[in-house]
Amino acid sequence: MSINKWDERYKEAQFAYGKEPNLFFKEWLGKYLPGAILMPAEGEGRNGVYAAQQGWQVTAFDQSGEGRAKALLLAQERGVAIDYIVGDLEELEFAPESFDAVGLIYAHVDADKKAAFHHKLDACLKTGGVVLLEAFSKQHVEYNSADPKVGGPKDPDMLYSIAEVVAGFGNYERLLLVEEEIELSEGKYHNGKGSVVRFVGIKKCARV
Ligand SMILES: C[S@@+](CC[C@H](N)C(=O)[O-])C[C@H]1O[C@@H](n2cnc3c(N)ncnc32)[C@H](O)[C@@H]1O
Repeated sequence: MSINKWDERYKEAQFAYGKEPNLFFKEWLGKYLPGAILMPAEGEGRNGVYAAQQGWQVTAFDQSGEGRAKALLLAQERGVAIDYIVGDLEELEFAPESFDAVGLIYAHVDADKKAAFHHKLDACLKTGGVVLLEAFSKQHVEYNSADPKVGGPKDPDMLYSIAEVVAGFGNYERLLLVEEEIELSEGKYHNGKGSVVRFVGIKKCARV
């Protein structure tokens, strides 16, 4: 979707994917001691705000100003603060090795930007830091055709494969890397059966 489409979606009164965190993110985040976390493509803030409630220092990033406005409202409602930067992921510039974790939850970017995006995320994660990723898999195209209420990009190049994760995060210890069918119930736009890739990886060393 274009930036205007995201802004239109986030202008709606309700939260597009709900106010509660993604279940995979919640489960895995709880296994780590809080530190600094980067949440790219954060949308309306459901995951970043949850992380802040658990004591994480959150930096969120998204192209949507409307997403930021909703996220800051949610943070206020929950009594926490997050730092939320509006911009294109191509502009993402953070100090090298400055985050303890990166949360990539349905962070579907245009196909031609994906490899550079992963590279940048890797550069700003500390050695020993963790990546938590859940995103629709290439198989998801079939699920979306069968039931559009489950949402997700229609362009297969924006979807994830296990091979892409291996290529993008080759310098990580893989604690989890699976492709599986799940049942989603997240706000208005993620409802029903879908196919996702889930990845949890610990950065072993800088890329060569
Ligand atoms: C499916 S939403 C996911 C939102 C959030 N991560 C969640 O799970 O609730 C995808 C988000 O990616 C953002 N996005 C896509 N391409 C982007 C880019 N090039 N730069 C910044 N944000 C981008 C959109 O604005 C949108 O908020």
